[in-house]
Amino acid sequence: MVQSQLLALLLLILVQETKGSSKSFPKHETRHLSEHKNIARCARFSPDGKFVATGSSDTSIKLFEVAKIKQMMLPDARDGPVRPVIRTFYDHLQPINDLDFHPQNTVLISGSKDNTIKFFDFSKMTAKRAFRVIQDTHNVRSVSFHPSGDFLLAGTDHPIPHLYDINTFQCYLSANAPEIDVNGAINQVRYSATGGMYVTASKDGTIRLWDGVTANCVRSIAGAHGTAEATSANFTKDQRFVLSSGKDSTVKLWEVGTGKLVKQYLGATHTQLRCQAVFNDTEEFVLSIDEPTNEIVIWDALTAEKVAKWPSNHIGAFRWLEHSPTEAAYVTCGTDRSIRFWKESL
Ligand SMILES: *[C@@H]1O[C@H](CO)[C@@H](O)[C@H](O)[C@H]1NC(C)=O
Ligand SMILES: *[C@@H]1O[C@H](CO)[C@@H](O)[C@H](O)[C@H]1NC(C)=O
Repeated sequence: MVQSQLLALLLLILVQETKGSSKSFPKHETRHLSEHKNIARCARFSPDGKFVATGSSDTSIKLFEVAKIKQMMLPDARDGPVRPVIRTFYDHLQPINDLDFHPQNTVLISGSKDNTIKFFDFSKMTAKRAFRVIQDTHNVRSVSFHPSGDFLLAGTDHPIPHLYDINTFQCYLSANAPEIDVNGAINQVRYSATGGMYVTASKDGTIRLWDGVTANCVRSIAGAHGTAEATSANFTKDQRFVLSSGKDSTVKLWEVGTGKLVKQYLGATHTQLRCQAVFNDTEEFVLSIDEPTNEIVIWDALTAEKVAKWPSNHIGAFRWLEHSPTEAAYVTCGTDRSIRFWKESL
């Protein structure tokens, strides 16, 4: 009797100690921002965190001003309803897969199932249509601007990333691309912070690292997500690690220099949709999606311990999670067509 009580006490202390070494994720408040006419599929913040854009199966793109979102979320918003959507762009023929902002100019790009990348100038109040179009040969699943703004990458159904010169629209392919089988479509492509490298997450489960200058594939992490699709990949700010997620229900952190697995974030199930795993702005937390419960799962990035699980507040599966690069705020997109904004409660 006494012994088992002692054991229970010891266990309690142990649990508290391991819990204590993980940081706790601050409480967030959430608000429904707007609705597309069909599934909301992707979101992206501008590099300065002032804007966020969302793309839908209804082929439209909405642009939100973050300051207006915050105004809308104030408890005593007085001057009537605030509308945070400042632009809506209609120009694609098929669903939008991904978006990115030009690093310096007021230009937003979109990659679509209609095999195009379109350029929108959001400084113009009334422009609804693209001012430039890149016609690719494949379904454009992912887009990423080079930090100089002079190049962009397209991840498509073709297994090799398409590198475009923004000024000439010429497309370059890697000269030493590895043999990739027919299942190698690219789900996501992302440049590192300096543009010195880029990373791809492929349907064949492989994470590949590419040299930003020569476009050579410098490392293949085969089976990074087993035989399941790798659905997202992005670098840490210091470019030393890559965070990836896959349909094998794992989120993994890889060391760029060696290709070694450094950490795994387990306990969220994602086997159906294009799941995203992202860091919070300080890279102290990892956020991802649990499909069966429709919850946001949060881990301490260092201890890999799960520290929070929150209902997404979407009706049915939520599809995309994007964190602000500058503050404690993120956006979720749902099958229910809606966009939700989340920010730390003060
Ligand atoms: C990717 O990681 C960088 C840090 O290297 C971050 O600034 C950026 O917001 C991330 N991009 C996306 C789309 O998550
Ligand atoms: C990221 O982590 C830091 C440290 O806990 C926190 O201050 C910040 O609010 C976090 N951002 C979030 C939760 O979006």
